[in-house]
Amino acid sequence: MTDKSIAEKEIIQALNWRYATKVFDTSKKIAEKDWKTLENALQLAPSSYGLQPWRFIVVQNSELRKKLRAVAWNQSQITDASHLVVFATREKIDEAFVQSYIDKIAEIRGVPKDSLDGFKGAMVGDVVNGPRASSAKTWTQRQAYIAIGFLLETAALLHIDACPMEGFSAAEFDKLLKLEGTGWGSVAVVTLGYRSEKDQLAKAKKVRFEKSQIIQVID
Ligand SMILES: Cc1cc2nc3c(=O)[nH]c(=O)nc-3n(C[C@H](O)[C@H](O)[C@H](O)COP(=O)(O)O)c2cc1C
Repeated sequence: MTDKSIAEKEIIQALNWRYATKVFDTSKKIAEKDWKTLENALQLAPSSYGLQPWRFIVVQNSELRKKLRAVAWNQSQITDASHLVVFATREKIDEAFVQSYIDKIAEIRGVPKDSLDGFKGAMVGDVVNGPRASSAKTWTQRQAYIAIGFLLETAALLHIDACPMEGFSAAEFDKLLKLEGTGWGSVAVVTLGYRSEKDQLAKAKKVRFEKSQIIQVID
């Protein structure tokens, strides 16, 4: 077996192993080293234009977690998982945000800022003033789901359990996380940690449509 075929097998095994964890073991915490890997996965997620219109809010305060649970359909994962990440995105993209990204490119790649004027103009002409400006909120939210995917897959490969969650009041989360009026809004949550032996769903078979139903090849 080549290294590549081992990797392929391990990836699919990990993706079958993962499931949306309903009951976390409150006694198990993600080790610092693994958490850093998960942070790296979030940081390395791609986004349209590379703009990264997101913030990943890691809530480890147990009192705050209790309050968040109350506005998240009382789902136990919110308080019981080792880590809770709230994905927040920009409600609008303004020129200052685009500029902060341009500044970062110039710094990291060692190029003059004015060499990026064309790229900046393209972004501003699209998401700040152009066709995407009026739907910027949904556009930035879509970017967040890419980071969620990266986080879930990376967690699975590390054999860390996770549950992606939309079952919460974004308005109430925004109040509790003091996001109101900041230009950022909560979109989704991922809870991470280790499954409890009591979680019956861990043994449930995956329900997926056949590949022939979901994958269409046009030759
Ligand atoms: C965007 C999104 C939101 C979800 N919200 C919740 C949620 O609030 N609570 C929950 O227990 N599961 C939630 N789930 C888990 C799904 O129900 C689960 O992923 C799906 O049934 C497939 O099962 P599997 O992930 O175990 O393979 C969510 C999943 C996604 C992708």
